[in-house]
Amino acid sequence: MPLSAVKVENVFFEDQQPASSDSRAELLSGLRRPQKQVDPKYFYDARGSDLFEQITQLDEYYPTRTEMAILQRHATEIADYCGPDCVLIEPGSGSSEKVRLLLDGVRPAAYVPLDISADFLYESAIKLGREFPWLQVHAICADFADDWHARTELPAGRRVVFYPGSTIGNMEPPVAGRFLADMRQWIGADGGLLIGVDLHKQESLLNAAYNDASGVTAEFNLNILNTINRIAGADFDAGNFSHQAIYNRRLQRVEMHLVSDTPQTVRINGSAISFRKGETLHTENSYKYTLDDFRSLVESAGYTLQKSWLDEARLFSVHFLAARKR
Ligand code: SAH
Ligand code: AVI
Repeated sequence: MPLSAVKVENVFFEDQQPASSDSRAELLSGLRRPQKQVDPKYFYDARGSDLFEQITQLDEYYPTRTEMAILQRHATEIADYCGPDCVLIEPGSGSSEKVRLLLDGVRPAAYVPLDISADFLYESAIKLGREFPWLQVHAICADFADDWHARTELPAGRRVVFYPGSTIGNMEPPVAGRFLADMRQWIGADGGLLIGVDLHKQESLLNAAYNDASGVTAEFNLNILNTINRIAGADFDAGNFSHQAIYNRRLQRVEMHLVSDTPQTVRINGSAISFRKGETLHTENSYKYTLDDFRSLVESAGYTLQKSWLDEARLFSVHFLAARKR
């Protein structure tokens, strides 16, 4: 039984309450490492989810509009790959904006948005349910890296995971490979995975996308400090840190950091964490793949790449993968 659940017409919302005491220990151990770091999942409280939505509207942030154009253009073919009456599961569903492009064609038996950001997920699921009254929405608030599927009962049907946005790019490639392999348990032997992946490209576009002129990405990055303060009882002052996003060419990833503007000591639940002036807290990696590297990653994770769709400028890619038959 879910810890808390509510049903509103065609929407069932289940809260597995992912923010637990483990988060405090996880945050503290990241802050104690030589390169201080925090998992990017902590960006997404209600304010962080809202800021991410603003990022998707920015001129400089090409991934969202490019992926949406690919989905729109190939919606009919994508629906054929998904097959009739599937159960469509979206880990990291955010506002569920992209799935709207697929629903009329795919006509899933149920849509399962899964997100860590509880209030934002609830609002998004209710809104989607109203817009698509024929759709059964089963929203789950959980950490997608946890065992969420063992704690719920999903409707019957072929499972298709929809994982857009290049959210896979926020994991280090070996972690991404393990996560993809784990997802085979979610979809079973006959399921599929529709996944969006950002591609390797010229650095100027990447630098602009993560350093927008209006400062929304900076605000998104700094907001993680508020989440750490709330969850871990810390006293970070966001006014003492600056946003930094740089492309790391060797590792083919955009790195986001928060740079300490001054020497300072932060208190976190009784412990003291000191920053030198210029020292950084590493908040996110956003890996950019070549098509060959992505193919190797998914094949090692036990999938067959059935189809890839790209935009004309080859900025972004969407792929349909099937679990490889033994
Ligand atoms: N799928 C949407 C949103 C992508 S933003 C799109 O393509 O535009 C990434 C989303 O993943 C956010 O909504 C965030 O709350 C969610 N998220 C990040 N880490 C998560 C985790 N570990 N478990 C569940 N959701 C997570
Ligand atoms: C959610 N994720 C794929 C986004 C990205 O581009 O890595 C998050 C983001 N970070 C800064 N801007 C957007």
